[in-house]
Amino acid sequence: MEYYIAPSLLSADFGRLAEEIRAAEEAGADLHHVDVMDGRFVPNITIGPPVVAAVRKCAALPLDVHLMIVEPERYIEPFAEAGADIITIHAEATPHLQRAVSRIREMGKKAGVALNPSTSLSSVEWILQDVDMVLIMSVNPGFGGQAFLPSSLGKIELLRSQLKRAKLDVDIQVDGGIKADNVGDVVAAGANVIVSGSGIFGTPDYKETIGRMRRNIRAAAGLSA
Ligand code: DX5
Ligand code: ZN
Repeated sequence: MEYYIAPSLLSADFGRLAEEIRAAEEAGADLHHVDVMDGRFVPNITIGPPVVAAVRKCAALPLDVHLMIVEPERYIEPFAEAGADIITIHAEATPHLQRAVSRIREMGKKAGVALNPSTSLSSVEWILQDVDMVLIMSVNPGFGGQAFLPSSLGKIELLRSQLKRAKLDVDIQVDGGIKADNVGDVVAAGANVIVSGSGIFGTPDYKETIGRMRRNIRAAAGLSA
């Protein structure tokens, strides 16, 4: 399995976004996680397609865009055109999830579905063959810097076993409260795409932090150092 570290730009210094993007890339990141919030699906408001397009211009790595917005189907095209490589929408945000993820793939992008902590895995059970990634939220979405909810570990384990049984090669992303010291737990449970905002941008040396995360990921995955 491939493992990816995706720093969440939400915790970067927005006044120096281009520099922060470059610093994350030089530090060894694999993807940029971009959090889009609308003040309706979640209480907070962040950025829209014009800022994603600006991020695209200064980033060399793929953009992993996490839409925390209602009616995400209305915004698939604008975010795809802005340069998103992965578009993740929330299962709770649309009644027509299968149609929405199909649209993302039709736009030539990877499709992800996110689940809030209280949302059951059964809400993605019948569309697992239509997605590239399932995002298990390990905090209630809306803000960076919240504490990791341990109940997400059992959810990740159960999803990984369901995917294995169905012989599906789907990434499991985990987002919220992940730091170098608990990344091993989520990897041992079966996650392979790791989002970390304050756990990276809140530390003085991004390279050292990402290096430590990667060592802990490899150890938990049983890979040699
Ligand atoms: C939360 C966002 C996360 C957030 C994670 O709603 O989806 O991506 O930036 O931040 P940390 O890693 O600080 O919990
Ligand atoms: Zn996110």
